Amino acid sequence: MIVLTETIKKVNSPSRLTLQTVKIAPETTTIRSLDWDRDRFDIEFGLNNGTTYNSFLIQGEKTALIDTSHQKFRQLYLDGLESLIDLSTIDYLIVSHTEPDHSGLVKEVLQLAPQVTVIGAKVGIQFLENMVHQPFKHRIVKNGDRVDLGMGHELEFVSAPNLHWPDTIFTYDTKTRILYTCDAFGMHYCDDFLFDEEPDLIKADFQYYYDCLMGPNARSVLAALKRIDKLAIEKIATGHGPLLQHHISKWVEHYREWSQAQAKAETLVALFYAEDYGYSDELARAIANGIIKTGVAVELVSLNAAEPQEIRELVDAAAGLVIGMPPQSAPIAHTALGTILAAARPKQAVGLFESGGGEDEPIYPLRNKFQEIGLSEAFPPISLKEPPNQTLEQMCDEAGIDIGQWLTRDRTVQQMKSLDGNLDKALGRLSNGLYVITAKKGEISSAMLASWVTQASLSPLGVAIAVAKDRAIASFLQPGDRFVLNVLEEGNYRTLMKHFLKRFPPGSDRFAGIKTYPATNGSPILADALAYMECEVTSRMECSDHWIVYGTVQTGRVAKLDALTAVHHRKVGNHY
Ligand SMILES: Cc1cc2nc3c(=O)[nH]c(=O)nc-3n(C[C@H](O)[C@H](O)[C@H](O)COP(=O)(O)O)c2cc1C
Repeated sequence: MIVLTETIKKVNSPSRLTLQTVKIAPETTTIRSLDWDRDRFDIEFGLNNGTTYNSFLIQGEKTALIDTSHQKFRQLYLDGLESLIDLSTIDYLIVSHTEPDHSGLVKEVLQLAPQVTVIGAKVGIQFLENMVHQPFKHRIVKNGDRVDLGMGHELEFVSAPNLHWPDTIFTYDTKTRILYTCDAFGMHYCDDFLFDEEPDLIKADFQYYYDCLMGPNARSVLAALKRIDKLAIEKIATGHGPLLQHHISKWVEHYREWSQAQAKAETLVALFYAEDYGYSDELARAIANGIIKTGVAVELVSLNAAEPQEIRELVDAAAGLVIGMPPQSAPIAHTALGTILAAARPKQAVGLFESGGGEDEPIYPLRNKFQEIGLSEAFPPISLKEPPNQTLEQMCDEAGIDIGQWLTRDRTVQQMKSLDGNLDKALGRLSNGLYVITAKKGEISSAMLASWVTQASLSPLGVAIAVAKDRAIASFLQPGDRFVLNVLEEGNYRTLMKHFLKRFPPGSDRFAGIKTYPATNGSPILADALAYMECEVTSRMECSDHWIVYGTVQTGRVAKLDALTAVHHRKVGNHY
């Protein structure tokens, strides 16, 4: 048992943001940013007990800082850090994942300590390059990679994608046996307790946090648990809330039980790809994102590492298969493809994509074999003509949505039948106008016919739109994004309505054959619309199967003053 000498230092600020620095193990200090009053997280996640953002400093012969803090702690955090260490002596900054509440001060730390080498997962470093906008030294780590800080502090990295960001890594210190997990095992709970000595006080928050952030990725949680099972863990240093020390096995078992139960109930797509080959990681991630939007679970499996037994079990459990073509020269991947084919069964959905490594296994013979077995193709093969760009990523996202929607089509039909007749008709009396939402981000654009649209505020002028979670346009409607709300005209809306209700193949141009001109915010204005408004998304609220997107209106115009808006009258309320 390690005996700790604790020094707790608190710096109070008027808005109840405080900082706590505590030595938690030899050469190891936590710097906790306590956000006592925060009442909301990720828009949809209400908090009762505030939250904390935990950062850690390990001072061996070399020094590593694990994560930073939220921007709102800028001064407090940097002062606290400087009181512990001369910033010019920090060697590594480990970014467990790039969500702004932990990496919000990475840019500042790098400005003050440009000698630092940032350590992160491949995707994490890519995300950071877009956040920091300045060159920085970095090292990409994979599962099992190690960095030696000296004085016994050898750090081992554990890949934990989707817990709850795609780029998440855990760090294990072999000397102190502390596992740094960032979001995993955390909770939004802010009080003076540094550790979990009062489990009854925090269990509800621990579970709520799991349900909101980890439950949707239950299979990824199970995969990460498998990776940490071999580690002797004395403390779990979480990124939010108290650190775990007194009841570790209990907390880990909760994660295992909840995830197993969740995984059993899910419709699953097994996504096989050759890790680190060509662009397979990027494409696999984009397809997985699309699948997740439809409420279908996805498990990413490396063709170079998976055991045949594991592959057979997964194919058996999966309703859909997605495969990124591995290199022809890798015998292990070849064998894995054979195992998948042998275990595949009719009625499963399948989708294939090229990985672009230069010696991809050809896609079409494999496609024919799946067709012979009787699998249904959920999206056409994705071929690579050039390195991934926004257009290809969007295509992959939409391909993921397509396979997810195909697998959940029964659920959709059932929902349309599920209402009580009278209620159904009463709800059907809610009538709205007809609109087309259009948006452009960089080189790519999207559009959707919508009727669940309403004015939502006067000052500033604002509108609200209900957007189903699995709409292609949903990724264009994040806070800060811009869009145009086109109002369709009574007597002159059918052509546009018919066009935008077509089933568009993944990545296709939704504006082909439609007259548009660009708005000041870049989104397309439909030339045949009665009116348009240029808007910016301010927030999104999660409402079960839809996002309510609230946007402020910047400018707008009416084409014909005497014309009326097309109105959509419905008979029943269980669909649009
Ligand atoms: C009359 C009508 C109104 C609609 N209103 C909405 C809406 O408000 N929100 C929404 O998410 N979908 C709405 N839809 C569904 C989408 O417009 C439709 O499914 C579209 O084709 C989606 O394309 P995507 O799934 O390829 O993104 C509506 C459909 C119809 C027929």
